[in-house]
Amino acid sequence: MKTIIEPFKIKSVEPIKFTTREERKAILKKAGYNPFMIHGDDVLIDLLTDSGTSAMSSRQWAGIMDGDESYAGSKSYFRFEAAVKKITGHEFIIPTHQGRAAEKIIFSITGGEGKFYPNNTHFDTTRANIEFTGAEAFDLLNEIGKHPEIKADFKGNMDVEALEKFIKERGKENIPFVMITVTNNSGGGQPVSMQNIKDVKSVCKKYDLPLFLDACRFAENAYFIKIREKGYENKSVLEICQEMFSYSDGATMSAKKDALVNIGGFLSLNNEEIATKCRNLLIVTEGFPTYGGLAGRDLEAVAQGLEEVVEESYLQYRIRSTAYLGEKLVANGIPIIEPPGGHAIYIDAKRFLPDVPAHQYPGQAIACDLYLEGGIRACEIGSVMFGRIDKLTSDFIPAMMELVRLAIPRRVYTQSHIDYVAEVCIESFKNRSKMKGMEITYEAPMLRHFTAQFKPL
Ligand code: F0G
Repeated sequence: MKTIIEPFKIKSVEPIKFTTREERKAILKKAGYNPFMIHGDDVLIDLLTDSGTSAMSSRQWAGIMDGDESYAGSKSYFRFEAAVKKITGHEFIIPTHQGRAAEKIIFSITGGEGKFYPNNTHFDTTRANIEFTGAEAFDLLNEIGKHPEIKADFKGNMDVEALEKFIKERGKENIPFVMITVTNNSGGGQPVSMQNIKDVKSVCKKYDLPLFLDACRFAENAYFIKIREKGYENKSVLEICQEMFSYSDGATMSAKKDALVNIGGFLSLNNEEIATKCRNLLIVTEGFPTYGGLAGRDLEAVAQGLEEVVEESYLQYRIRSTAYLGEKLVANGIPIIEPPGGHAIYIDAKRFLPDVPAHQYPGQAIACDLYLEGGIRACEIGSVMFGRIDKLTSDFIPAMMELVRLAIPRRVYTQSHIDYVAEVCIESFKNRSKMKGMEITYEAPMLRHFTAQFKPL
């Protein structure tokens, strides 16, 4: 088999800035050792997130020029609505400016004190939006998904037995809906199988509960189903996406991921009564229902992106280039979540720095070192993001896993960029005995990882 190449050529380029190690040392200190606080142009290769960082295609840029900016009834909205319906099959399509705006709306309408939302693993904004209403968010990930070193095809699957037990314990009347996140971002970008979606659906049906997908990375999930799940090898990715959504009653979507755009999102659902309430709230918080916080041009770009993201040559390159980085790290002994997920490589900081305990944030230490070593910006997904202090005992409760995410922007970096990333990670791993843990010197009450300040110990 020949090399799987980028299925595009480059029409427009953006320079990246090189800095010296001395400069990066000062930049890190000024940023309070929080990569979120580093100026983007001081970063050489930015793997902070795959969200909103895609390179758009020439057709998407053409759509930007072609966008219809009518306040109401824009033709771009109708193209967007048709593109979303083609994939989701859902009846009511509500545009939002990004994923968390869709979350804010659906949880404001359905949430509140005494309500519970199970998911395979809630993403941080999803959890925050649920908790903001007074409701509670629960992660019911399958056991295998909690073990970074175990290789399995569908480590994003929900624990179906745990779900049924959860519904019985909490009472179905207190559960507005069940959610599945595809792929499971917080658990390593691991896919969910079609069988698992079907099994969750049948539990939902039994208790008359709706099922929602957090669909940010639906196309990457569908491609994993195609290459890993029996019976799907000859189906098109679009058909697989349509089947995934056919078991759902609604979805929240950040178009900043698998719609290949820099801004956008949507809420889609089948229940007319709830959709009407959501649209009314949308008008207060986002905008009129045919633009929802976006410009007409943004809606065009999303519609075009949704067509491009299900192309198999794109997904083959996408999934393969993530695995390529993962394989290089594994070959050099670097512990990662295996097998590599769709949008990112997750370094297992517990095994990378076994002597740094969770309350000294090993993932944060590694993320800082990658910047210092090579100007690479990565993101801690561990106890900085999910650790908490027990309100009653004041004990530190660590996150389930200590990870550093190298998220790969879509269609942005070439193979030599990725080779460089691997070299920097390998260098950092060689020097790991010199790395120290971190202490938090400032934190916000919610979503602290974005703005926290640190001090190396
Ligand atoms: N759900 C999942 C699974 C996500 O990964 C994200 C965003 C959201 C919801 C919220 O979407 O950012 O458009 O408001 N994840 C980004 C990340 C931020 O870096 O993983 P948003």
